[in-house]
Amino acid sequence: MLDTNFAIQRKPSIVILDFGSQYSELIARRIRETEVYSIVQAYTITADELRELAPKGIILSGGPSSVYEKTAPMPDPAIWDLGIPILGVCYGMQVMVKQLGGNVEAAIGKAEYGKAHLEVDDPTALLTNVDSGSTMWMSHGDSVKQLPEGFVRLAHTSNTPDAAIALHSHRFYGVQFHPEVVHSTFGMVMIRNFVYTICSCQPDWTTNTFIDEAIKDVNSKVGNKRVLLALSGGVDSSTLAFLLKKAIGNQLTCMFIDQGFMRKGEPEFLMDFFDKKFHINVEYINARDRFVNKLKGVTDPEIKRKIIGTEFIRVFEEESVRLGPFDYLAQGTLYPDVIESAGTNIDPKTGERVAVKIKSHHNVGGLPKDLQFKLVEPLRTLFKDEVRKVGRSLGLPEEIVGRHPFPGPGLAIRILGEVTNEKLNCLRDADLIVRQEIARADLYHEVWQAFAVLLPVRSVGVMGDQRTYAWPIVLRCVSSEDGMTADWSRLPYSLLEKISNRIVNEVAGVNRVVLDITSKPPGTIEWE
Ligand code: XMP
Repeated sequence: MLDTNFAIQRKPSIVILDFGSQYSELIARRIRETEVYSIVQAYTITADELRELAPKGIILSGGPSSVYEKTAPMPDPAIWDLGIPILGVCYGMQVMVKQLGGNVEAAIGKAEYGKAHLEVDDPTALLTNVDSGSTMWMSHGDSVKQLPEGFVRLAHTSNTPDAAIALHSHRFYGVQFHPEVVHSTFGMVMIRNFVYTICSCQPDWTTNTFIDEAIKDVNSKVGNKRVLLALSGGVDSSTLAFLLKKAIGNQLTCMFIDQGFMRKGEPEFLMDFFDKKFHINVEYINARDRFVNKLKGVTDPEIKRKIIGTEFIRVFEEESVRLGPFDYLAQGTLYPDVIESAGTNIDPKTGERVAVKIKSHHNVGGLPKDLQFKLVEPLRTLFKDEVRKVGRSLGLPEEIVGRHPFPGPGLAIRILGEVTNEKLNCLRDADLIVRQEIARADLYHEVWQAFAVLLPVRSVGVMGDQRTYAWPIVLRCVSSEDGMTADWSRLPYSLLEKISNRIVNEVAGVNRVVLDITSKPPGTIEWE
């Protein structure tokens, strides 16, 4: 049942059964914040499979369905006989009520969305140290009408009589709200009560234990064989490089393919940092001409992305033969990719598991599966914030660990229309100014991304006594939690003025700076 791919074969302390909630992953992350290892599984996991995993606790996630619909997703009813504590969250609580003989109905006129005040009726077990009157985040259109036999009420809100419930004898608990979201003030207290007091978990999921276990696993799997890693300089591949260097030393070779679409100074910085400073074998592949030549005359964004992706694979294949042979390919696959490809999404209409739609953004580092390598993916149990912690702990500087996301196709998708060397140079200079000024204003870590985009149109300007006819640069700066939604950053006028002045004065070929004030949705963060 455990991941058969190469990853840490650690048994989870808590298993979350996913009923399609947007918060299932968040529950797992919150539990891991308490240093308890948790994983997400599809709700279809059987009781026997769960017995094999032997978790100390189970959580049933929320979900978009209603338990009284015929197609509502339901867990294996045998989970109630496992003797393991179970916490149902929102839809998960309704599943508990329904399967154990209670009743759930639409909460007509009593639906609750947003903040609600929790009145505690029983301040023990799950609700120990949870203040009565505290805020909890609600999002439900259904309510419990009748509790199953033996259940008691732990708390209520003005609209929801059974906001938290328990069957103490079996250590079954249900909450109608979402303890995992930040707006639920005592949510973490409740999560700690569940994992430590109710499930008796140990705080053994720490960065150091992860690193130790990962190194042991890599060593036992790889032995004295050679491993190849495509290094991009992003947080994941950089952390992986450090981890593998620690585990297998010079058996690791990194390949850094310079497509010519990186930011100013970045290829030099990366080579200097990894190769010279940390003595990690990095093969620098200068493929700049290849890529820009392939993009001659190409203006369609999707075609551009495809060409870059295909060319990347071609270069990678050629170079791996030249530098090889290698037995293993290391990839920076993370836990959200693993959950997604396990396809735990649920269609709210049919209740069926649906194939997760292919991400529209593929990292160009994503390589096809038919390459003749065995995979090493030591980060596949980690969330992004955990990768950052591991990276820091391994000695990666903030410059890499804390950097903004940067798309695989790089500046090529920030130049609209045809990509040329002239435009690349121009954008690189403008982009550097944006980065410098955002950092000088001490806003780098306040914003999600800040960058420049070059538009292939020309407008009229005047410089000195000269009429100019040149490109505009768009300043794109957004705040976001995860890149899925975003808002444009309200930067101080003085900073905008500084950026605009510098770009127009210092970057040849640009005579105008405009500001993108579009949120996502409807806009995307990148322009292509
Ligand atoms: P959009 O433009 O879709 O971007 O709002 C969301 C986030 O994804 C990043 N992005 C990419 N990242 N490969 C990546 O690794 C890509 O091809 C790619 N395209 C967009 C984007 O920078 C933002 O953070």
